[in-house]
Amino acid sequence: MQAQTIDVRAAVYRGDADGRTEVETLRLDPPWQGEVRVRVRAAGVCGSDRHVLDGEWQVPLPAVMGHEAAGVIEAVGPGVTHLAVGDHVVIAWHQACQRCGECASGKPWACRYAQSNDSLLPDGTTRWTDRDRSAAYPYLAVGAMSEYIVVPEFAAIRIDSRVPFAVASLIGCSAGTGYGAVVNNGKVLAGESAVVVGAGGVGLSIIAALRLAGATPIVAVDISEQKLAEAERAGATHTVIGGTDLGDRISEITGGGADVAFEAIGRVQTMEQLPGLIRPGGRGVFVGLPPEDQPLMIDGLQLAYDGKTLIGSNYGGLVPARDFPRIARAYLAGSFPVDALISTTIRLDQVDDAFDAMRRGERTRSVIVF
Ligand code: APR
Ligand code: ZN
Repeated sequence: MQAQTIDVRAAVYRGDADGRTEVETLRLDPPWQGEVRVRVRAAGVCGSDRHVLDGEWQVPLPAVMGHEAAGVIEAVGPGVTHLAVGDHVVIAWHQACQRCGECASGKPWACRYAQSNDSLLPDGTTRWTDRDRSAAYPYLAVGAMSEYIVVPEFAAIRIDSRVPFAVASLIGCSAGTGYGAVVNNGKVLAGESAVVVGAGGVGLSIIAALRLAGATPIVAVDISEQKLAEAERAGATHTVIGGTDLGDRISEITGGGADVAFEAIGRVQTMEQLPGLIRPGGRGVFVGLPPEDQPLMIDGLQLAYDGKTLIGSNYGGLVPARDFPRIARAYLAGSFPVDALISTTIRLDQVDDAFDAMRRGERTRSVIVF
């Protein structure tokens, strides 16, 4: 039977100065050619959404918030071949064009034609309308904080149905990014020493992935004792309170600097500290996203002299169709404890409270369950 346009309840942001969302009823069109409609079962509350609500990043409005989702295929559009109604899927928010040279060479995260950052599907449109029939925009082309969403088939990755939806949703952003930063960007090997600066949702995912990769020691750095305690539970072998003498303390623990270090905050100062935490020949991976127009000051002569490599990580260098099922398998095998990242599960109408908790530096991850 042909799918119809449906009414859906969603957390919508209309530019409110206090960063509040409103649960509204929107209209969602059926999936077009090559698209699927997903009944969302869980959606993570991620720091990128907060950047938008607090006016730090601009997006088209009204915005259907959220980009970290998992659910069940409810309807498929014409030409969909790999997915069927009832499949459990994780949603990828970086929706590459699938045709350019970067996409063809297995680097979808480097695609220059993705329109996800403009809250548009790959064809430059949206399937959403609000009460007066004008367009509404799914944040990062997902709009996860909604009962249903429409995405391209390639952005809905089927995973093992034994993975709980709350866990699966995090694979689509925080857990996936952390895993990818370690495996794809850092290419961390067993026995290598590692430092992670920032133990929020992303940093804890990196720590869990480092343990999976067999890195040792794994040093977590944060300014919060509570976050450092969580870092130990995720697999950190050492914890350090951040500060100006960080390089010396890391050097002591690792015997001259780490093989690989990750910045998972997005602060200019901690990004500039990163080269000083790694040994000559080591790698530094930038995962946190700094504010716009704030360049880094790095000693280029020292960097070249020491032969260090600095790596930018966009969406953890993930190839979702390859990596999401791998991460799901690692979770089911007990070797990548994504559930440890979830501090609270909430209802859709509690999302503003979850953002407030995030603003106060509490909770690693709240997940909306539908
Ligand atoms: N030194 C060490 N740790 C710090 C410092 C500092 N100077 N300042 C803040 N932190 C810690 C916080 O205490 C917190 O535990 O950094 C952590 C940041 O975590 P979250 O705010 O939960 O952010 P998260 O969701 O993990 O995202 C981190 O990655 O994907 C990007 O956009 C995202 O830029 C953001 C980054
Ligand atoms: Zn995210």
